Amino acid sequence: EKGGFDHFMLKEIFEQPRSIADSMRGRVQAQEGLLQLGGLRDYLDKLAKSKRIVIIGCGTSWHAGLVAEYIFEELARIPVEVEYASEFRYRNPIIKEGDIVIAISQSGETADTLAAIELAKSKGATIFGVCNVVGSSIARATHAGAFTHAGPEIGVASTKAFTAQVTVLTLMALAAAHRKGTLSESLFRQLLTELESIPAKVEQVLQAADKIKEIAYIFTYARNFIYLGRGLNFPVALEGALKLKEISYIHAEGYPAAEMKHGPIALIDEDMPVVVIATQDSSYEKVVSNIQEVKARKGRVIAIVTEGDSHLPGLVDFTIEIPRVHEILVPLVSVVPLQLLSYYIAVMRGRNVDQPRNLAKSVTVE
Ligand code: M6R
Repeated sequence: EKGGFDHFMLKEIFEQPRSIADSMRGRVQAQEGLLQLGGLRDYLDKLAKSKRIVIIGCGTSWHAGLVAEYIFEELARIPVEVEYASEFRYRNPIIKEGDIVIAISQSGETADTLAAIELAKSKGATIFGVCNVVGSSIARATHAGAFTHAGPEIGVASTKAFTAQVTVLTLMALAAAHRKGTLSESLFRQLLTELESIPAKVEQVLQAADKIKEIAYIFTYARNFIYLGRGLNFPVALEGALKLKEISYIHAEGYPAAEMKHGPIALIDEDMPVVVIATQDSSYEKVVSNIQEVKARKGRVIAIVTEGDSHLPGLVDFTIEIPRVHEILVPLVSVVPLQLLSYYIAVMRGRNVDQPRNLAKSVTVE
């Protein structure tokens, strides 16, 4: 059942090339410049014309929402707010008719997310779902949506569901932007083509598993971790920290890299591992300065870098290379080494990786 892997989590991490491809299958035909999302057909106009989108979710699904915020705003120029479902539902949120709510949930059974949907619906919003489980309560409660085709996710730590969510949300943003006319035909086609290449690029990252395992070994007994990223890699930093804490029980925090100097930098010393997602995109130079600030205080830096980066290996303690991808799509690839890092650290600490203490796969109570 674990397909030769020691844990479901590892199996699911390695399934990502397929689950990402499955989430695009029948939807993307890059060569023809076609993108079709059946479950959105009657609602695409409404999405494209909306003045405001509110995205709700919990945990990893909330992180996928943060990634989607950048993509929707960048491509479709629609203002997006991302909310924890549990906060949204208890604070008399301002929702008007015409507002779009996108609810993200792997299980489709998260109590807070379901209740937030019912509240938004009662205020006249149109609800889109991004769920992995067909027939789930959340899938049934939404007006429209697009399923992630990640397949069953058994490990409590969400991995392939996250990349499938980001894939589907990217398709939704592309479809809305294309319909709205805020995205040039050439960039639309380029992004579809790049999307089709993502499974192979994720495969390439998976081949670095042994190197990541060696790095994990070195940091097995760290007591704290900091994760930093900017732009689209900021939510990836949050996701990396969540993965580590939930399965290894090591305290970890994710921050936008520039926030360091507003407090967390006080934590940096030679015992503090700092994982920095430092891919070569529009914020690269800024991230490099943030790395220098950490190194000046003797922090130990593990950097996720774009392959061929010749500068960072001389500056940091360890590098993990990932293939070059369009900036909009980078989270799909940059999250993978962080999943593996937390997996190996948790295994080396003897944790119950698939069923961490105090956690359930779906949180059906508030
Ligand atoms: O099923 P959902 O996507 O609604 O679940 C949301 C969270 O409970 C879930 O992502 C949780 O944070 C995971 N254990 C993270 O790995």
